[in-house]
Formats: sequence, C-alpha cells, structure tokens
Amino acid sequence: MDRLFVFDTTLRDGEQVPGCQLNTVEKIQVARALESLGVDVIEAGFPISSPGDFNSVVEISKAVTWPTICALTRGVQKDIDVAAEALQYAKNKRIHTGIGTSDFHIKHKFNSTQDAILERAVAAVKHAKKYVEDVEFYCEDAGRTDNVYLARVVEAVIKAGATVVNIPDTTGYCLPHQYGEKIKFLMENVNGVHNAILSTHCHNDLGLATANTMAGVINGARQVEVTMNGIGERAGNTSLEEIAMILKCHKTLNIETQINTQKIFPTSRMVSGLMNMPVQANKAIVGKNAFAHSSGIHQDGVLKNRESYEIMDPKDVGLDENSIVLTARSGRAALKHRLGVLGVPVEGEELDKIYQDFLQLADKKKDLNDVDILMLAGKEHSTHETIRLDYLQVTSGVGVKSVASIGLFIANEKFEAAASGNGPVDAAINALKQIIKRNMTIQEFTIQAINKGSDDVGKVHMQVDYNGVLYYGFGANTDIVAASVEAYINAINKFVR
Ligand code: KIV
Ligand code: ZN
Repeated sequence: MDRLFVFDTTLRDGEQVPGCQLNTVEKIQVARALESLGVDVIEAGFPISSPGDFNSVVEISKAVTWPTICALTRGVQKDIDVAAEALQYAKNKRIHTGIGTSDFHIKHKFNSTQDAILERAVAAVKHAKKYVEDVEFYCEDAGRTDNVYLARVVEAVIKAGATVVNIPDTTGYCLPHQYGEKIKFLMENVNGVHNAILSTHCHNDLGLATANTMAGVINGARQVEVTMNGIGERAGNTSLEEIAMILKCHKTLNIETQINTQKIFPTSRMVSGLMNMPVQANKAIVGKNAFAHSSGIHQDGVLKNRESYEIMDPKDVGLDENSIVLTARSGRAALKHRLGVLGVPVEGEELDKIYQDFLQLADKKKDLNDVDILMLAGKEHSTHETIRLDYLQVTSGVGVKSVASIGLFIANEKFEAAASGNGPVDAAINALKQIIKRNMTIQEFTIQAINKGSDDVGKVHMQVDYNGVLYYGFGANTDIVAASVEAYINAINKFVR
C-alpha cells in the first residue's frame, strides 16, 4: 500500500471562516483531537497575521507530540522569521511559504513578471531552509496557472530545498480531470519531482473539492490538505473524513492514510461545537442523516443485510448507534462517558455543572441525544462570559402586544429593563437593547429544532453587525425566545470582551 500524508488545515484555512474563530485553549483541544485522529501535519496558524495566531502556534507546538506542526507564511522574509520563532517548541516543524503563480495573481496582485515571481519563490524557500529542514511551498492559484510555468516553479523550489510542493486550486475552479492532468503533468515534466511530495489543496466552490483531491491523488500527489467537516473559506476545503473513507472503501486504489476512522465522528462534533458551525444533515460521512435510512424499502433491506444499502459500517466512523440516548435516570458516569465519546473530556466541577443542566433539561425533554449533550457542554463554556442572561419574561399572544422584561449580569453587575415589540423575540431583543445601547443590527437569524417533538430544544444561529463587522452567536433552549436572546448575547460577548 502507498502511504498518503494527511495535512489538516482546520486551524488555519478552516479557522479563517467568519464566526469560527477559536481561542488558544479551544485550538489546543482541537489539535489534540487531530493528533489522536492520526493526522500527519497540523497547520496551526499564520503567525505573522496576529498575536493570537502566533501564540496558538506556540501553544499547539508545546501541546502536541507526533504530528508535524506547520506555520503559514507569505513568501516574505519577515513572515518566515516570525513563523520560525512561533515554531520553536515544535518537535517536528514545517514552514509553509509560497506565492501566487497564475497570470492573474502575477499581474493584478504583484504587478510583476513570471521570472521575478520565480526568483521570489526560490528566495523564500532558501530563507525558510535556514530555519527548518521541512519546507513546503504553495503555488497559490495553481488551479489557474499555466502548467508549463507551474512546472518551472515546482522544479525551481524543489531544487532550492522544498520537501513538499502544494498545488492549490485556490478558487475551486478546476474540473477533476483538469486537476488530475495538472498533477500528472508535474509528475512527468518536473526534474527531481521525486525528491519532494506533491500536495493537493482544493476548495469547494463548485462542490468538486473531494473529486479534485482524489484526481490529484490518483495521478501521484501523496499529501492531501483537508479540514474536518470540510470547513473553510467560502464553500470550504476538501473534507478530511471524505478522503479517509474513500480510501478505506476503495482498497483497490492501494493507498492508505493513518487516520483512525473510528475517531471521525467525535472529532467532527467537537469541531462543529467549538466553531459554532453546524454540520449539514446530509453531509457525507458525518451528517446526521448520513446513515439514516428513512424509506421503507431501504430500512427493510438494511435490516436483512446492512450492505444492501450501506457501503460503510457506521461504527467505522465512530457512530455507536446503541448508546445515543440518555434520560433523566442516566448517571453522571454515563454522561461523562458519552461526552468523552463525543470528544469533550470533562471532569470534576465542570462535569457537575453540566450534569445539573442535563437533569434540568431531561425533566423537560424525555430523551437527550448527542446534540443536546454537546449543547449543554457548550453552554458551560459560556458561563465565563462578560454578559449573562439572568431571567427573561415574555407575554405574547394573538391580539395582544408582546412585552418582555429582562435581567442581565454584565461583569457580575445586575441590570433590568422592559420593552414591547412586534412579537416575543422582538420584544425581548428591544428590552436587551435598552441595557446594551450599541448600534447593532441582526443580519441573519435562523431557528432550528434539534429533533422533532414540541418539547424539543430549539437552536438559534444569529449574525449581528456591529461597526461593520459580523459577529456570530448561538443559543439553544427549549424556549425559542430564550434561545434567540442567548444567541444575541453570545454574539455581543464576542465584541465586548
Ligand atoms: O487556498 C490557498 O491557496 C491557500 C494557500 C495559502 C495554501 O490556502
Ligand atoms: Zn486554501
């Protein structure tokens, strides 16, 4: 079997998504989960872009043992110096530097020429080599770069010492056969190509990221750049879980990764929870419906023999169907075990608090599923926030004006207000705005039930505009007005910190 290296960029390309930003503690949690999932490389950040990113690369380097820690730079000396400094504690380290190589980037981004860009590429690799042995070079917008020029750049950077050369389809433009041919062309026309590994890095703007990545792999690429749940800028990056399971299902390709596929589901849910990024129900491998058979014919077939309609065993991705439901009679140990399976290890006081919330919710709702439990764990996180909801009382109905009164703690000081509005949510938000007098507007507001019953927890996702910047908020409650206010407060807490 040929070995394919998995380069995870959830914490860099994935984290660039508005609303998905994590603090350093959360990034370490994700990095540790990626390590136990079996990724080969963790791209931990872009150190020169902010002190927060710099610090995350430092702390992840300390926290993680086996995977190579990679830091992104532009092909600029200062970026590379800062990346090298951020990587000082990494046991295995890589600098990822590069420059745009398409005519479009050369002309409009750099106002330069192909020859000058090639020189800058070589200089960047040579500079990075002064700090680390393992240097990856990216040819940004390689998807739209002329193959003959691309081959010149790849050859030159390998000669300068690049150990990996990344061929990003930055705009998600390529068709699978084009991307595959690009990799094939490089494999056949670059002198010294076997002294380095070619890497895929595909974006999903046309829904082709996984297909393009596989075309690259089939034609000789031996590293894939991926994210958990396919998160990433715009339509996202190639999904780690899709590539891992394609290779597991198609053994005849003779290519394997070191991913422990049974950890896919818990890692997916951990990333989704921490990043406030719901996984779409029909998402391949990790969506809520990925293994749910609803039609009678399918259900009958699966009961007779699972393989009638399933090409994968749900257990292979870490979905343990038998232990999903917890009730009010479940003990603390069962809750702790379930949270551990879901990738949220909790102990002591934190577990006690989540357990108290769990009992309260179980009183209102008969069966608690994984999403409910993750929601409770996420709520515990928010008890440390500057603004907290103390109480909310709303009167509404047909033929009456909705009125709300609200109590908030702001930095532990209590504030109260009341207001009316065009419906219960509007009244509650108006009351809240009486206390927090900032110029904020709601840009996006979605309410979703987690399951089906009228006793169900409602989830609210909200985007709030403050000073031209969008802040993402999430709330979950059996009362959807309360969930809406929680989401609003969650968004505000991101800019009042
Ligand atoms: O999509 C892209 O081109 C990138 C590079 C910075 C590697 O993310
Ligand atoms: Zn990218």
